[in-house]
Amino acid sequence: MTDSYGRKIEYLRLSVTKRCPLRCIYCKDETETIENELSASEIEKIVRAFAACGITKVRLTGGEPLMRSDIAEIAGRISRTDGIKKLVLTTNGVMLKKYAKGLKESGVSAVNISLDTLDKEKYKKLTGCDCLDSVLDGIEEAEQCGISNLRINSVLIRGQNDNEAERLILLAKDRRIDVRFIELMPFSDTGENEKLIIKGEEILERFPYLKPVEENKSNAEKSVAKYYTADGFQGRIGFINPISEKFCSDCNRIRVLSDGKIRPCLGSNTEIDIRNIIDDGEKLVGALKKAILSKPKGHSFSCGYAGFHGLDKIGG
Ligand code: 5AD
Repeated sequence: MTDSYGRKIEYLRLSVTKRCPLRCIYCKDETETIENELSASEIEKIVRAFAACGITKVRLTGGEPLMRSDIAEIAGRISRTDGIKKLVLTTNGVMLKKYAKGLKESGVSAVNISLDTLDKEKYKKLTGCDCLDSVLDGIEEAEQCGISNLRINSVLIRGQNDNEAERLILLAKDRRIDVRFIELMPFSDTGENEKLIIKGEEILERFPYLKPVEENKSNAEKSVAKYYTADGFQGRIGFINPISEKFCSDCNRIRVLSDGKIRPCLGSNTEIDIRNIIDDGEKLVGALKKAILSKPKGHSFSCGYAGFHGLDKIGG
């Protein structure tokens, strides 16, 4: 359906848990008890109601979605829902080796893997976990299982991992993997963020061999990334610039948190609780339509941390 500002909302980002084994330095650590999480059956009902509102694409996020041992069941229920044409997932990759095959069989067609460094020690420092090898194994397994759309998401932080941009870019050279750089969004109230951001523009200046790729995509498929490639590369390099280029006027998304609250906008703390009406299909569809119509025209990260909480539970 179309929201109050003429944007067609077709893309649902669904967080299935706040739990995550990593403690990334730019992502707040929030703990959640399993009891709070929507069940697979509740998720199915919510997705069915969203499909009735015109949602065609769903991304499973977290926390870390693979912390849910029933993730393949959740995926299967969603991909079998009438109206859902595309199901994808974002993961830190740590447990991907175990789940890749089940996810593929349950209808997940594309996977985004968050990976900010290819250096073992640095990975440990940035995430609090000595598990870079597990992530690399996970990527390999996903390729083996025929998940053909693999994308790496990297956040560069000045002085931490910005010297690794080229190593990350080169992942797209010999494999059909897209590597995307996401500008660091505010994550602390120390005012330090500004200095730490590496803007997309800065990376492009450092690697002039990257040339823009033209894209023609439908609204549901529309990506916030701008893509580039280089001679001899099989994959592409993408730039997601939430700080230097706002993309609110193009927004096609709505979000659900793992406890059943709707987030109409990533940059606003407004939440709508629908948990107690999940079993009443008609009421639920009405509430979701209202939530879509309440999407604000835009947001600004410049409001700082105080106005922007919880990337960890929203899954980006
Ligand atoms: N700034 C930019 N990207 C972030 N992510 C998580 N926290 C931040 C942040 N503060 C990214 C992760 C993941 C995606 C879901 O969101 O790296 O790839």
